[in-house]
This record gives sequence, structure tokens and C-alpha cells, in this order.
Amino acid sequence: MTDGAMVLTIAVLGGTGKEGSGLAIRWALNGYKVIIGSRDATKASEFANTTNAELNGEYLVGMANEEAARIADIVVLSVPYTAHRSTLEGVRAHLHGKVLVDLTVPLQPPAVRTVHLPEGKAAGLEAQALLGDGVNVISAFQNVSAEKLKDPTTQVDCDVLVCGDNVEAKSQVIKLVEAAGMRGIDAGPLANAVAAESLTPVLLYINKTYKVKGSGIRITGLE
Ligand SMILES: NC(=O)c1ccc[n+]([C@@H]2O[C@H](COP(=O)([O-])OP(=O)(O)OC[C@H]3O[C@@H](n4cnc5c(N)ncnc54)[C@H](OP(=O)(O)O)[C@@H]3O)[C@@H](O)[C@H]2O)c1
Repeated sequence: MTDGAMVLTIAVLGGTGKEGSGLAIRWALNGYKVIIGSRDATKASEFANTTNAELNGEYLVGMANEEAARIADIVVLSVPYTAHRSTLEGVRAHLHGKVLVDLTVPLQPPAVRTVHLPEGKAAGLEAQALLGDGVNVISAFQNVSAEKLKDPTTQVDCDVLVCGDNVEAKSQVIKLVEAAGMRGIDAGPLANAVAAESLTPVLLYINKTYKVKGSGIRITGLE
């Protein structure tokens, strides 16, 4: 949870939603300072207060996305692909020198069980192109079902492929993966996010076909 002596602050933009909230709660319970970001500051505060009451502690605070990104050391983007660009544009002024963890899957409803490559080939690559070299975009968590994150006391049966071009930023995110109860695997440069993002429609297809809620991935052959 710390970087040297400092407790890191994580902002989860779209943290009121299914995937972001599951991760935010796990990080908060592991000692990180966690801010829930939303388009609506009141919605974020209400979400944080309700969750704190359920968890019986002051774990989360809620703010507008922009303020959350300004304060945080690490920013996690957890919004639907349709809101990917606009959300980044709204916070880009506050991201310089930071790590942006992008878990967006560029789904194309209604065909969410078929791989769709966006114009920039991957949401993570589009984020990096938009934000420029001053921001370390790391792609992760696309294959983790929100369903599996719900109970923060359980380990999640899924590995997390972590892709990015900055080695130090990648190892920071692998620590976040572990803090959320999963194994993080260095899966190469950000260009490899194309593969990680593309696995999610495959998993959604498997969920439907085998009538399960949260299939995941495991990398074999590692210690
Ligand atoms: N759900 C999963 O199992 C899963 C698994 C892996 C990856 N992902 C990826 O994680 C991201 C979030 O997924 P999710 O299931 O958590 O999504 P979600 O619950 O539908 O939405 C997350 C949050 O995004 C914000 N949002 C929604 N529509 C928006 C819009 N048009 N403009 C700006 N913000 C908007 C909302 O927050 P506010 O209203 O508070 O602003 C919402 O609570 C997606 O990119 C998804 O592909 C999801």
C-alpha cells in the first residue's frame, strides 16, 4: 500500500460502477487511500457513505472525477468505452507524471461477445495517444469479472495481464493487483493490451454458453 513511507492515494474514476467499486473496496480494505470518482460529486459522496456504513469504517471518500484525479497519486479509469475519451479529456490536466490504470474494454453493444478493435487498436493505446508521454498508461483488469470482485474477502479466480511501456509503473500496478486479491502478470508493452482487451468478449461468450457469471483466465507454466 505504500511507496516508501507514503500511503498512496488511488482515484477510481467511475468508481460508483460495478468493476471500479469492487476494486476500490478491496484497495481501501488493504490500507490504500481510495477516492471514488463520479461525474456527479454528490453521487460519489453518497456512494462512499453508503459503502462505509456497510463496511463499518471510514474507507472511501467520494468526489467529482476531476478533483479525484487531481488529488490522487494513481488514477484508475473504470467507465464504459463510450465514455473513455470524454472522461480522459476531463481529467487530463491532472494526470501529468502519474500512472493511469486503464481497465476499459472497447465493447461494441449489442455484439459484446465478439472481439471489436477500436480505431486505435486498444483503449489503452488510445488513452496513451490522447494523454501523451507524460502519463504512464498501464492496461489491466479487463478479464476480471465484477461479479468475482463483489465479496472483498475472497481471492479472485483470475490472473491479471498487466501491459505497459514503463517497467516501474507496471510493477506498481502489479502490487495493486495483488492488493485486490489476484496475481498480476507482466504481459509486455502497452501494445499487448490489444490481446488482453480482446479476451473479454471471449469470456463473455463463454459465460453465456456455459451459463456462468464470471469466467476468467489463468496463465500456466509460471512458478
Ligand atoms: N463489469 C465487468 O465485469 C467488467 C470487467 C472487466 C472490465 N470492465 C470494464 O470496466 C469499465 C467499467 O465497467 P462497469 O461494468 O463498472 O461499468 P458501469 O458500471 O456501467 O459504469 C461505470 C461508471 O461509469 C460512469 N459512466 C457510465 N456512463 C457514463 C458516460 N456516458 N459518461 C461518463 N461516465 C459514465 C458511471 O459513473 P458516474 O455516473 O458516477 O459518473 C458508472 O457508474 C468498462 O470499460 C468495462 O469494459 C468491466
